[in-house]
Amino acid sequence: MSRKLATITGVHGYVPDYILTNQELETMVDTNDEWIQSRTGIKERRILKKEGWAASDMGVEMVKGLLEKTNTKPEEIDFLICATITGDRIFPDTANTILDKVGAKNAFGYDISAACSGFLYALSTGAKFVESGSHKKVVIVGLDYMSSIINYKDRSTCIIFGDGGGAVMLEPTEEKTGVQDSILRADGSGREYLHMKAGGSLKPHTAETLALGEQYVFQEGRPVFKAAVRGMSSAVKDLLQRNNLTNDDIDWVVPHQANIRIITSVANQLDFPMEKVMLNIHKYGNTTAGTLPLCLWDYESQLKKGDKLVLTAFGGGFTWGAIYLVWGY
Ligand code: UT7
Repeated sequence: MSRKLATITGVHGYVPDYILTNQELETMVDTNDEWIQSRTGIKERRILKKEGWAASDMGVEMVKGLLEKTNTKPEEIDFLICATITGDRIFPDTANTILDKVGAKNAFGYDISAACSGFLYALSTGAKFVESGSHKKVVIVGLDYMSSIINYKDRSTCIIFGDGGGAVMLEPTEEKTGVQDSILRADGSGREYLHMKAGGSLKPHTAETLALGEQYVFQEGRPVFKAAVRGMSSAVKDLLQRNNLTNDDIDWVVPHQANIRIITSVANQLDFPMEKVMLNIHKYGNTTAGTLPLCLWDYESQLKKGDKLVLTAFGGGFTWGAIYLVWGY
């Protein structure tokens, strides 16, 4: 009997209404539109400013839209994974808060913390549950509320990140569509270059850590940049090779949207034309675990059943990887 695959049957995204432009950032820190656009490709990003809203509320918008699109009742969801590093609280998880808020009474869930690679890790994990036959309707959410952990006085990070993300539905299929293969990697020694200095058990918050701004994202950009290009290029190359695929077989490369220069370097190294590369960094910036589902949502109308996609990401941890999937609708 052939293996049942987990196929994506719908995607839905959410970004907040508020648009933080490069021009507004010029009034907040010593930066300028020309530097931001030429160094990152970002023109604007979305910022969540709704009173009382947290990461789960964005997730609820994504999941409600997804349920409507896929004609699914909340009680039919079996399992939900939320990839995020900006959950509502350190604990409990955000996945189960989303499930509660959408009225999914028959499901369980958990969060995956793999920063910008979170959606890859979560999609690969969710697909295994579907492939095993144990779960039939699995929702994968990738989202981040980055503005809640960004220091808007630090020009090296505040220009990059934005809020938002998306969700996909995974279901079993007898066809050859869905998640085909994945390569997931990690190198924990990279944690020194991209992290939050305080707020965990290593260094709980004190008045001093707060005064020092250690509740915000810290990043050494250059080493992360180099490792991102290396990691994504090698993951995609290895994945294509072991599936006997050439660049011509691939319809779309879906890269993490961290920096347009990282994306073009990866495309160049792999010899992929930019026309095959999904891009929306100019309007959303880096939404961490949200970038890949936001790309799928933005390009949904251009996707056809049978299209071959390679998703790739690199992020804090370090974490990285690539997924090969065939679009299902
Ligand atoms: O998604 C998770 C993984 N993260 C990433 O993939 C991010 C990887 N890193 C990057 O994307 C880039 O390293 C950054 C966008 C963060 C920075 O770009 P860069 O080209 O690596 O700049 P840099 O940090 O080497 O800084 C170059 C110069 C410095 O000035 P000096 O020392 O050469 O005089 C910075 O102080 O640019 C200056 N600079 C800025 N100038 C204007 C740094 N930030 C800004 C700014 N506006 N916002």
